[in-house]
Amino acid sequence: MDIARTPATPDGNVEMADAAVEPKDPPEIRREDYRPFAWLVPEIRLDFELGLDSTRVRAKLTVAHNDKAPHSPTIRLNGDGIVPTSVTVDGSPTQAYAMDGDDLILTLDGKAHEIGIETEIDPSANSQLMGLYASSGMLCTQCESEGFRRITFFPDRPDVLSTYTVRMSGPKDQFPILLCNGNKVATGEDGDTHWAEWHDPWPKPSYLFALVAGDLVARSDSFTTMNGREVELNVWVREGDLDRTEHAMESLKRSMKWDEETFGREYDLDLYNIVAVSDFNMGAMENKGLNVFNTKYVLADPETATDGDFDGVEGVIGHEYFHNWSGNRITCRDWFQLSLKEGFTVLRDQLFSQDMGSEPVKRIEDVRVLRAAQFPEDSGPLAHPIRPDSYREISNFYTATVYNKGAEVIRMMRTMAGEEAFRKGTDLYFDRHDGEAATCEDFIKAIEDGVGLDLTQFRLWYSQAGTPKIVVDLSHEGEEAVLKLTQMVPVTPGQGDKKPMPIPLKIALFDRDSGTHSGEQLIILDKASDTFRFAGFADKPVLSINRTFSAPVTIQRDTLRSDLVFLAQNDDDPFARYEAMQDLMVGHLVAASKGELSDSEREAGHIDIVGALRSVIEDEALDDLMRGELLLMPSQTYLAEQMSAADPARIHEEREALKRVIGCELQDEMHALYDRAATLPFSHSAEAKGARKLKTLILTYAAAHDPQKAAELAAHQYDGSDNMTDRQGALMVLTGIDSAERTGKLLDFYNRYQGNALVIDKWFALQASSLHPKVIEHVKALADHPDFTLKNPNRVRSLFMAFAGNPHGFHAADGEGYRLIADLILELDPINAQTAARFVPALGRWRKLEPGRSALMREQLERIAAAPKLSRDTFEQVTRSLG
Ligand code: TRP
Ligand code: ZN
Repeated sequence: MDIARTPATPDGNVEMADAAVEPKDPPEIRREDYRPFAWLVPEIRLDFELGLDSTRVRAKLTVAHNDKAPHSPTIRLNGDGIVPTSVTVDGSPTQAYAMDGDDLILTLDGKAHEIGIETEIDPSANSQLMGLYASSGMLCTQCESEGFRRITFFPDRPDVLSTYTVRMSGPKDQFPILLCNGNKVATGEDGDTHWAEWHDPWPKPSYLFALVAGDLVARSDSFTTMNGREVELNVWVREGDLDRTEHAMESLKRSMKWDEETFGREYDLDLYNIVAVSDFNMGAMENKGLNVFNTKYVLADPETATDGDFDGVEGVIGHEYFHNWSGNRITCRDWFQLSLKEGFTVLRDQLFSQDMGSEPVKRIEDVRVLRAAQFPEDSGPLAHPIRPDSYREISNFYTATVYNKGAEVIRMMRTMAGEEAFRKGTDLYFDRHDGEAATCEDFIKAIEDGVGLDLTQFRLWYSQAGTPKIVVDLSHEGEEAVLKLTQMVPVTPGQGDKKPMPIPLKIALFDRDSGTHSGEQLIILDKASDTFRFAGFADKPVLSINRTFSAPVTIQRDTLRSDLVFLAQNDDDPFARYEAMQDLMVGHLVAASKGELSDSEREAGHIDIVGALRSVIEDEALDDLMRGELLLMPSQTYLAEQMSAADPARIHEEREALKRVIGCELQDEMHALYDRAATLPFSHSAEAKGARKLKTLILTYAAAHDPQKAAELAAHQYDGSDNMTDRQGALMVLTGIDSAERTGKLLDFYNRYQGNALVIDKWFALQASSLHPKVIEHVKALADHPDFTLKNPNRVRSLFMAFAGNPHGFHAADGEGYRLIADLILELDPINAQTAARFVPALGRWRKLEPGRSALMREQLERIAAAPKLSRDTFEQVTRSLG
């Protein structure tokens, strides 16, 4: 239809986008430009006539002046790729609206009105998976961050809270199940169609809206809250998947209980629905009362899911549940505050998982994730503070920095406050801001007030990007140990001069002879440089620092190798012990990769590392989950991070060489360990999980030392396995070995699981992340496999994320790996921009590479930048990466 163009009045609320702006130069949104919205939308009614190719949406918005904002007669309703088929004000059709780009602008004369808007959308054509889309015959929504505007025109910003009443109707046979947020209040039928009406009593921003319609079945259960509210719980999946939902349901009940006990948070509706969909951009989404999940984080049974997958389900189920308070009851004022809900909720899910399993092992895993995903972000062209200052496309800021570093920052507050006082702070936060759209500043203030802590300087953690580096110098004077600490916060894009931050460091000083210490202490380094003195040391002690990883920093210590060996054997903090073991190997491998080791130094390093690993194998006080952590080699990516102009091939060579030495020197010990582990029957106990972790780890060492023997062992493990952990582990090792078993087992795995998308994802990922010399050829062939599709993000990630994270293939010296990822980005960008943009950071590492690869990588970024049309998502990431 023809759209009348009447000029809207530009004012504080209605920022007029320049119509001439090229799609390739999207405007920058700045945090400092935040203004409250001039209008309130206390209520919205939505009516959906559902169809896979055509869904009609009628929206009725009750709007009124916002007394807390300067008055404006115009109201901007955001849209994205939709057109209004009809607009009414107070029931009367009107043409008196303007389109500003994709947004609809109305001028209203009174203080309160009802706006009616109709749109028609095609869910089956929605490959971006934002807004309303079709996924294997069902309809579902994803609205965070700005997907609601692809459904109807609305002030699509998180500080506009409304009560939703939603009616939906559709063909009974196609959509027997109709779900929405809140409670179902009425249903009915009319021939072949039926309808349902849902009402959510809790005011919410549009990004928390959700609707699902499809042929689904539920595992149902119930939970009684601490105040006796009986909550109906459902996990909705496709028919054949029901027997893989038990773990999700149990995880949900554990989450609900844990949040009551740990944070005093109770659920606030009579119904909690979780729906699993196979096409999803991220892990899951916390829509009020109706979480939508990637199937990857719902479906699990021992035959098809690994121990890691089980842990992932528990963690993500917890994460989305915890959002009900940290995100939904208290939401974000604007998207710059994203870490308010995400950082806090990640911390909450981490603490939950720590309590459900092994606390130290979970801590080590979380630190490993932080180092693998966030540290590179912080040291590269995409570095940003946990509360960013500007963005062009907010989807690009769902990052490890906002999520994981955000969690670390709040964890530091908890460490400084102590657990009990921290709870007082969070109680005050939940109490003070319930029902509001809050800011990070609100959170900090509530913690300050509730705990009685001055966080003035600590706020720098919210505004400064970059991982602080601490230089440690321990000396001994008379009877004193003297610890000199210096901090440096690196320069990051747009941030030159950094101020010193308060850095809480847990330390212990070990007596060399007894192998013990007289108590852990928390010191806070809040100056550029400071000296701490400790009395009562006749001899120089051994320093254990940043225990439990109390601060997200890097530590530079000139520790003697013998001290690292000492800590690897004696440290009573499991994280610090792991760290000593890692440092021992990192120090050796970095020096070796740089060609700095003489033969005798190399030999001496081997002796120390092998000795430390042997004592880990022999230490009977260790459980196997922890033993597995201590036996793990640092990843190639982590090693590359420690160097300025890394040569991936050299690192790979040295890392494989050390693996070979370990595999050879410790073959008898490892063999015995493997045999012991192999006797345990399958269960989900920590003991059995630990045993499985060791078995595959031992195979990887064996593979470096004696590939043919390892291939036999792995094939044997594969054939005898009664669970996916053992089977996938064995296949992973086999996939890296050029052997007869390789082809046979890969084929067997494919045939066995054909039709099970999540397992076929593993089949793709295993081959893309393998150490096989021909991995690039394999990936190219797999991209042409009939089961490969760019339409499904899980499948795309399983092939190409796995490949981009495989240094051995990705960093091929001729740049073929970089070209492959650039080709993917260009092809995927028009289909799914969000997912395409997530591959750009891998190409943004060019500054950290040796000159040859650096140039080849940059060339690919430039090739992407030169494309005639790019999404906002990819454009922003490529531009920033070129820097
Ligand atoms: N809020 C979700 C979470 O962390 C994240 C999320 C899910 C998301 N789907 C998304 C973010 C799509 C952006 C786009 O739990
Ligand atoms: Zn989240």
